[in-house]
Amino acid sequence: MIPGVELVIMGKQGAGKGTQATRLCRHYVIPHISTGDIFREAVRSDNDLGGRVREYLDAGELVPDDLVLAVIHERLEKPDSQERGFMLDGFPRTVNQAKDLDEMLKPSGGLDVVVNLDVPTDIVLERLAGRRVCAECKANYGTERPPELEGVCDVCGGTLQRRADDTDAGIRRRLELYEEQTRPVLEWYEDQGRLVSVIATGGVEEVTDRLIAAIDTQLNRR
Ligand code: AP5
Repeated sequence: MIPGVELVIMGKQGAGKGTQATRLCRHYVIPHISTGDIFREAVRSDNDLGGRVREYLDAGELVPDDLVLAVIHERLEKPDSQERGFMLDGFPRTVNQAKDLDEMLKPSGGLDVVVNLDVPTDIVLERLAGRRVCAECKANYGTERPPELEGVCDVCGGTLQRRADDTDAGIRRRLELYEEQTRPVLEWYEDQGRLVSVIATGGVEEVTDRLIAAIDTQLNRR
């Protein structure tokens, strides 16, 4: 049985899932579980998982479901998510993953809210082109929030760089896979009555305010 708030954040690549999940998790005091961050950290540490997922990440391909599900099962067993709930970011992104998550959460009654960041493709492309990430602490910068000194992280002084999968080919492939594999997941949750879509254009703070209002409304209905 998992008590607490159980949320999923969805949206196209560059829609702002990572940016908003960080802020929402501070607000709801729940752990932020990003499969992309877990995989990138594994690649950076050069551990066994990193060796198995590196090629998929660099090419913008999806990591096979068995590996993703093993990571998620292990993570959701940890005391913080058992006690407080969680926000999943980047998972599920295939219907098979969504079905597995439903099974996992059956004892707690399932997800509370799945929130979808609705952003047109031309805007996500602009955001991805402007994204820079600190090589050391992974802080995320964009054109709406540039660092004080170009190329240098405000938090730790590390070097800012583009993500390895933010190439033209990597972005194109990730967006193709989103349409093929992940859009059906939105339909899956819509049919369950768990999905709430929020227009996620505009400034970061105003999007956070809209998301909190939408999530609270859904939570109060349950
Ligand atoms: P993942 O890390 O999940 O990447 P993604 O889905 O490609 O999403 P992004 O991180 O690109 O976008 P985001 O929506 O988080 O945007 P962000 O907040 O950074 O996955 C990476 C890879 O891991 C996958 O390709 C796959 O290989 C593998 N993987 C992960 N999960 C998997 C799974 N479940 N199954 C199989 N494989 C899996 O924002 C983007 C930019 O916009 C930033 O610069 C930000 O500052 C800026 N920005 C954000 N909000 C605003 C705003 N309101 N206004 C202006 N700029 C903004």
